[in-house]
Amino acid sequence: MEPAIETNSSKHDQTETEFGKNKKRYQDLIATFPHEKGWRPKAPLIEYGGHWFIQLLLEGCLHAQEFFQARPIDFLVCSYPKTGTTWLKALTSAIANRSRFEDSSNPLLKRNPHELVPFIEMEFPFFPYIDVLKDKGNTLFATHLPHGLLPESISKSGCKMVYIWRDPKDTFISMWTFFQKQKVDNGPLNSLEESFDMFCRGLSGYGPYLDHVLSYWKAYQENPNQILFLKYDTMKSDPFPHVKKLAEFMGYGFTAEEEKEGVIEKVVSLCSFETLKNLEPNIGEKDREDRPCIYKTSAYFRKGNVGDWQNYLTPEMVARIDGLMEEKFKGTGLLEFGK
Ligand code: A3P
Repeated sequence: MEPAIETNSSKHDQTETEFGKNKKRYQDLIATFPHEKGWRPKAPLIEYGGHWFIQLLLEGCLHAQEFFQARPIDFLVCSYPKTGTTWLKALTSAIANRSRFEDSSNPLLKRNPHELVPFIEMEFPFFPYIDVLKDKGNTLFATHLPHGLLPESISKSGCKMVYIWRDPKDTFISMWTFFQKQKVDNGPLNSLEESFDMFCRGLSGYGPYLDHVLSYWKAYQENPNQILFLKYDTMKSDPFPHVKKLAEFMGYGFTAEEEKEGVIEKVVSLCSFETLKNLEPNIGEKDREDRPCIYKTSAYFRKGNVGDWQNYLTPEMVARIDGLMEEKFKGTGLLEFGK
């Protein structure tokens, strides 16, 4: 995963932050981990805990593991990149904050969803000064870390989490197209074929993807009260029941009166791809306001469809990745999930 981060911001000196004080220690440790060629020559992948990371995000992961203090009231949005994170960030924010704002003052109208729900391995280490992290009233956090690498404080706190996954073919295409939208020149991106081969071999940021999904599936089966498991593809075809369930699970269930007044429909509509994509903070050449980022906010909204892989992958590629999924998920119940 290429980090949606630009950390060399002159505005805030990293040496003064908790991360800055520990950075050298993380780097020395990371230097001892296995390195592999990445999707771009300048961004090697580094193995840690059975998953692959680019340098910066691994530093962020180590920092989150050491310093992130989850509270029982917190709620974590978990996902592999490009599987519906932005959508879930918007939904959880709209659900949790609906009594605090009028429709016309909803923060989603002014900010990209990523500014409202901070990543524990990105904003927390690198941008601790942003408003959402300073706001102790904020209980929403996000992560792309696999379940086994979550900070210990998360399981200790017992805080709840939601995980979303998506057909690996769409996840791959969404990722490969996203990387092309970087504003800075990080060198050439591998061809679709090379990147696909690496994705299938598990060599992608936070990958192997299928292991990532499985890590949360196993945790969900062990503790269904702590994790809500969602699939992008099924949610797209009918978001309403999933949004209702998500709100209940978060402890913000819709009242009978709210249901009658169409509040669920309103949340679904506000957070829909079509609405968010066309809101002022997410259009054109806008940058997020809270911190530097190598992507424009519009990069998070591409097509929002199920099955766009059909425009990119050959039958051989499809057979390969479908076969890998069948093999990996056979007997786990995941293949049947969301059908
Ligand atoms: P596509 O590239 O297939 O269009 P993430 O948020 O995890 O980065 O995932 C990005 C994917 O979710 C992109 O998929 C993006 O278009 C889609 N997406 C973004 N916002 C969405 C929304 N509100 N509803 C549905 N899909 C959304």
